[in-house]
Amino acid sequence: MSFNIAIDGPAGAGKSTIAKRAAKELSFIYVDTGAMYRAITLGLMRRGTDIEDVQALERSLAEIEVTIDYRDGAQQVYLNGENVSGSIRTEEVSARTSACAAKPQVRAKLTDLQRELARKENVLMDGRDIGTAILPDAQLKIYLTASVQTRAQRRYKELIERGESCSLEAIEKDIEERDYRDMHRETAPLKQAEDAVLVDSSDMTIEEVTARIVELARERIGSGCGA
Ligand code: CDP
Repeated sequence: MSFNIAIDGPAGAGKSTIAKRAAKELSFIYVDTGAMYRAITLGLMRRGTDIEDVQALERSLAEIEVTIDYRDGAQQVYLNGENVSGSIRTEEVSARTSACAAKPQVRAKLTDLQRELARKENVLMDGRDIGTAILPDAQLKIYLTASVQTRAQRRYKELIERGESCSLEAIEKDIEERDYRDMHRETAPLKQAEDAVLVDSSDMTIEEVTARIVELARERIGSGCGA
């Protein structure tokens, strides 16, 4: 039986950086589900699909295929065979993804893929609904959060380092809007699973959060909880 770790939380809490590091330390496979939602969103954007038009959405989704594989341990995401791992990271895609991810048809498309990965391998999967909807039996669930200000600062730094121009106020607003949409949508909203461990990373370094998650995982693995 595989050992599954679910990490959920709002935008910019540091999930992907931390999940990547913790997975490496534990020799688990890191599954970034946000990248899958971003890839579908990019596909819908390229087709110019009006996502409020259910028929148009379903027609486009039938033609969109998202797959992943790993290159030197890093997850790559493909949209109909094209590696889009870089092009899904723009602010435009970020801003549109939460509206697309709120559509049940979009979520249904990724559920099987995510569950199948977790069934076969020891995975550390991050997203919004992993502990609540995708892997309700995960042996360890973490809800990773931080204050809006901290999260906006982090994203700002990340974008500046990548050479993108942006304003801190705009990022803060975007994060607040995204949190609201992710937490209030009907299908699989972002919320802390009852059995999830809450980690607030506002005053913790990446190393501290990673160490905490690795420690929790080792405790559970050691207690014979799966794996
Ligand atoms: O890195 P960041 O937290 O900004 O975003 P992400 O994890 O790449 O996810 C982008 C968007 O996809 C989120 O704002 C959610 O709306 C959506 N998402 C989701 O609905 N369910 C998931 N399991 C993962 C992401």
